[in-house]
Amino acid sequence: MKNIVILFASPHKTGKTSDLLNVYLKKYLQNLNDNFKIDTIYIYDQNIFPCIGCNICTKNNVCPQNAKDDVKKIFECLLKSNHIVVASPVYFSGFPSPMKALIDRAQQLYNKKVNNGKIKNLKLRTGALVATCGSNNKNNIIPLRDCCKQFFDCLDTNFLNQLYSTNTDNLDDIKVYNKT
Ligand SMILES: Cc1cc2nc3c(=O)[nH]c(=O)nc-3n(C[C@H](O)[C@H](O)[C@H](O)COP(=O)(O)O)c2cc1C
Repeated sequence: MKNIVILFASPHKTGKTSDLLNVYLKKYLQNLNDNFKIDTIYIYDQNIFPCIGCNICTKNNVCPQNAKDDVKKIFECLLKSNHIVVASPVYFSGFPSPMKALIDRAQQLYNKKVNNGKIKNLKLRTGALVATCGSNNKNNIIPLRDCCKQFFDCLDTNFLNQLYSTNTDNLDDIKVYNKT
């Protein structure tokens, strides 16, 4: 059984990012010789506090913010998965703020790896980035890709697939790439 978790980072559940995610999933599932289960986490529906840089996780791996919000539950779900899909629009050359807040909180996973002496990405699962941007410039996706790769490193996830669409502000001329 393949356990797929989607981190859906657009505030629009049926917008451009969701359209592209459906394209990605269709192709990915077609090539899958396995039963699967999909859990979708709508980031905008989650309670996610930002990292406050307290550095407590450098000493005991525990983030004090975990007691107050949904991040612990989200990371537990990701760490049980076989394939993670991050689906997101580009906002000011980055991830929308709730998704960025989740990514920053992965510092606790990074520090856990450091403290356990297992700093390298163990590649226990695979991951994909599905990203859309309004302008006709595929370079706008690059900061998301770099950030996503670092996030996947913390989650022992091998960055396997990428699917991007640009020019989504121009509905008649949306361009789709599977590499930048
Ligand atoms: C706050 C905000 C910031 C944005 N910043 C960028 C940007 O830096 N570059 C870009 O090409 N598009 C930018 N866009 C456009 C979105 O990336 C684009 O419309 C996206 O496809 C929307 O996906 P959605 O339908 O899932 O919301 C921005 C949109 C918003 C609302």
